[in-house]
Amino acid sequence: MASIQPSRQTQDPPIQALFMFETVTLGHANVVTGQMEHKIEMPRFGLGVWQMSEGGECRNAVLHAIQSGYRLIDTARAYSNETETGEAIRESGIPRDEIFVVTKLRRTHAVSYESALEHCRSSLEMLGLDNLDLYLVHAPPEDIEARASVWKGMEECLARGWTRAIGVSNYGAHHLDDMRAYATILPSVNQVELHPWNQRPALRAATEGIGAKVMAYSPLARGHKLDCGSLSQISDSVDCTPAQAAIKWVYDTGSITIPKSSNPVRIDENLASLSIDLSGTEKSFARMDEVYVSGWNPTAEP
Ligand SMILES: NC(=O)c1ccc[n+]([C@@H]2O[C@H](COP(=O)([O-])OP(=O)(O)OC[C@H]3O[C@@H](n4cnc5c(N)ncnc54)[C@H](OP(=O)(O)O)[C@@H]3O)[C@@H](O)[C@H]2O)c1
Repeated sequence: MASIQPSRQTQDPPIQALFMFETVTLGHANVVTGQMEHKIEMPRFGLGVWQMSEGGECRNAVLHAIQSGYRLIDTARAYSNETETGEAIRESGIPRDEIFVVTKLRRTHAVSYESALEHCRSSLEMLGLDNLDLYLVHAPPEDIEARASVWKGMEECLARGWTRAIGVSNYGAHHLDDMRAYATILPSVNQVELHPWNQRPALRAATEGIGAKVMAYSPLARGHKLDCGSLSQISDSVDCTPAQAAIKWVYDTGSITIPKSSNPVRIDENLASLSIDLSGTEKSFARMDEVYVSGWNPTAEP
């Protein structure tokens, strides 16, 4: 059995439920001093809620996940379900500070300092929360000239206490490197596509190189590869489902892992993947990398 131990190291209030999974310490490296600032703890496993757009679908999935023990929810303005996410969190009865909420500044809104602030406020209103735990720029702003001012807006959201941490998503190594010239503090997280078919060692290293944690989206490659023969051989050998083997591989990279499911049985199946021991399968997984992109790939943009 892989050990799932608490690893809380800061002075945050105790979050009992997080002890089901490992947590990770997020911080923001100060560009000038190199010091890590604003340290907080984040669960390393959670529910992604993209493509839950039927009325009630997101609410039901989030509620079921929280009741099953999930304590991290990854939503975004672009998913059009921040309101249902907030409703489910309240309905769960679990104290707010025991659930880690991530949302994202939509790319079309990532145009200026003011827009970052305005849309952080509207996400808070839709979620019905006083503050976010992590606010991400969903993808590098298309207007390269706007990237610095958008990040300044994110830093201001953090300074005002609207979010406990800020980060980016879909930033390539060159986007991260560029941030050193315009950021005061560097992102705490880079959320990127990561799964056995796209293992991204260089991008993971670049993310860690600026002091950020990798948050892995689409750990199942959006379900595109669940009939992969190599995966089935591995899952048979360790007596789990193919989805569980893929999720656990991602989790074992040390990344924050957020599979999506609207199906209560699969939500539980995915959580149970954390107890699977993949020892001895490392070489088989290493051979599966085919740099497969399941959707968009802004990391490759200028
Ligand atoms: N920042 C970004 O640009 C970005 C991009 C994509 C995703 N994300 C985030 O990452 C989350 C996860 O990624 P994703 O939604 O793209 O894809 P994913 O988690 O890789 O895969 C989800 C798909 O797999 C199915 N599935 C889930 N569990 C399963 C299981 N145990 N067995 C078989 N099929 C299963 C789901 O169907 P059912 O629902 O029917 O179970 C769904 O079709 C998103 O929800 C979102 O929060 C972020």
